[in-house]
This record gives sequence, C-alpha cells and structure tokens, in this order.
Amino acid sequence: MTTKKFKPRVFSGMQATGNLHLGNYLGALKRWVEMQATHECLYCIVDMHAITTWQDPKELRESIRSVTAAYVAAGLDPSKSAIFNQSQVPEHAELAWVLNCVARLGWLNRMTQFKEKAGKDRENASVGLYDYPILMAADILAYHATHVPVGDDQKQHLELTRDIAQKFNNDYAESMRALGFEDGFFPLPEPVIEGPATRVMSLRDGTKKMSKSDASDLSRINMIDDADTIAKKIQKAKTDPEPLPTEEAGLNNRPEADNLVGIYAALADASKGKVLQEFGGGQFSTFKKALAEIAVTKIGPVNSEMRRLLADPEEIDRILGEGARRAREIAAPIMSDVKDIVGFLRTS
Ligand code: TRP
Repeated sequence: MTTKKFKPRVFSGMQATGNLHLGNYLGALKRWVEMQATHECLYCIVDMHAITTWQDPKELRESIRSVTAAYVAAGLDPSKSAIFNQSQVPEHAELAWVLNCVARLGWLNRMTQFKEKAGKDRENASVGLYDYPILMAADILAYHATHVPVGDDQKQHLELTRDIAQKFNNDYAESMRALGFEDGFFPLPEPVIEGPATRVMSLRDGTKKMSKSDASDLSRINMIDDADTIAKKIQKAKTDPEPLPTEEAGLNNRPEADNLVGIYAALADASKGKVLQEFGGGQFSTFKKALAEIAVTKIGPVNSEMRRLLADPEEIDRILGEGARRAREIAAPIMSDVKDIVGFLRTS
C-alpha cells in the first residue's frame, strides 16, 4: 500500500473549549499558518469533540466563535484555507459511524488519553469520550488528509487513524478494486509533531504544560490578554535565583529559565543558544523586560485583531459558513465513495 498517489493535504483541529493561550499559538497556530504557504489546508474547530464532556450551549457557541477569531487573527487565511466548525460538515459524523465498525474495541482500550480524561470514574464517562479517537480519524480521513500537525499527546490517536485506514483498505480491498480504487482508498496520514522548542510550559511551574484548565490565570498568557496583562504576567513569572546561563546546556534542570528562554526564542524565531548569546550572564529582571516587549509586539496585534473580529460575530459566522461549504466539496464525494465501497445502496 502506498500513499504517493494522494495529493498533499493538511488537516488539523482544536477543541472549542475556553480561551486559547500562548502554548496554542506557538505550538500549533504559528505552524499551521506557515503550512498554508506550501499545502492545501483545512483547519477545523472540533465542536463535536467538545461535547464529549458537557458544555454549556451558550458558552460553546461563544467558544466556537472565539477559537475561530483566534485562528484568523493568528494568520490563518479564510481565502486560502477552509476554516470551519466540525458540526457543519455532516460527513464527519457519517464517516465516524463506518469507522466505528472498522476499529476494534481492543484498539480503543489502549488509548491513554481516554484513561486520563475518564479518570477513576470510567463507568460514568460519556460513550462519546471513549469514541473520541474514531471521530478524530473520521475528521482526517474524510478529506484524504496526508499531513496532520498535532501535539505529542495526539500521536497515539494518529497511529490509530493509520490502523483504521489500513484495516478499511484491507477489509474492503475487493470492493475497492471492483470500483477502480487500485492503491487503497484511504491514505495513511503522517503526524507532523510539534518540536520541543515550541512546547510552552506554565509560567508558575516550568514542569507543567501551559494549560487553559490551570486554576491560576497567571500561569498562562491568553491570546485575548491585552498588553498590560501580558507584561504583568511575565513580570510575575516564576524564576530561580541564578543569572541566566550563557549556553543552552546551562538550562538543564532549570525548567522555568528554560521555558522563558524558549518562549523568547519561539517569538523571535531564533534558537535558545542565540537568545542566550544576548542575555546569558544577565539578571532575569532585564531579560523579563525584553521578553515582555517582544511578547507584546508579537501577540499584541493578534490580540487586537481577535477583539475586532469578536465584535463582529456575523463576519465570523460568514467565515465558518464559507469554510464548511469548501470542506464539504472535498468530503462529500469521498463519503459517497465510502458508501459505494461498503455496499450501501444509493438510489439518488
Ligand atoms: N484531539 C485533538 C486535540 O485535542 C483535536 C482534534 C480533533 C484533531 N480532530 C482532529 C487534531 C483531527 C488533528 C486532526 O488536540
């Protein structure tokens, strides 16, 4: 089985829950923006995944718009890429059902994210939470996407997606051949894993990932934070008493220093070594001033564009509608082929 006959196509998505932060921006969105220059891209707001844990409907609607505004403000271009919310493209749910019947229980039982999210009270987790990775596979395969930029924590779900694609291709090989799909119907999508340099940690604890669910708002820089708030949070960020090291190796076992230098490097598009050439040997107070400055310069415009968009929900809804239309143009014929392959009778 090869994937070479498939045109390169990027798909990725984020959940529509809460506000996005610097970790989402540096780890994911900045990369997604870059990929638009070289690939056909689809960027989804996965509202159907969001309801695997209960969401207040009013807040969900707001979150969908807010994540969309963050996408666009960060530089995802609706005239280049399809930007849409999952629930407006019914093929995701439709394909997920078929893939439910391809994937095996044993495969899902190995998913570590479910175990983490369900915690001790597994019996009380939603069936949707358990089935989450199948819907994710459908998101990707509905477009024959070949490249999927994701965080490290999603690698296992990508492997599952490849297993499902492969099993579908095998189980239906004969039917596929009869219909003229010689090389296998689904591509085996490649994860594009974000690098360690773009892994942003909490400002209060350099050993924990920056997270929207952290109780302390000081632990993260939200994409919606204004310049003063950004500067204040950096000022208050946890550090250690030593001056900054002059070389990258000196960041070992200094998680807070490593994180702040990493954030500077990612914002400046430079290496950590380069940043330390400039700031190594100096005090954190000087470095923090410079960091606040570059953060405000880079995030400030994203923040004001986000605010502008959020003040105009009709414009956001128009972007999502147009994105969904474009996404369906790709997914609908693929879903029709799937129906033919599995033997569903189509009478119109
Ligand atoms: N599960 C992903 C996350 O939590 C979000 C997601 C849903 C996704 N569907 C996807 C990512 C398809 C990539 C491709 O980060």
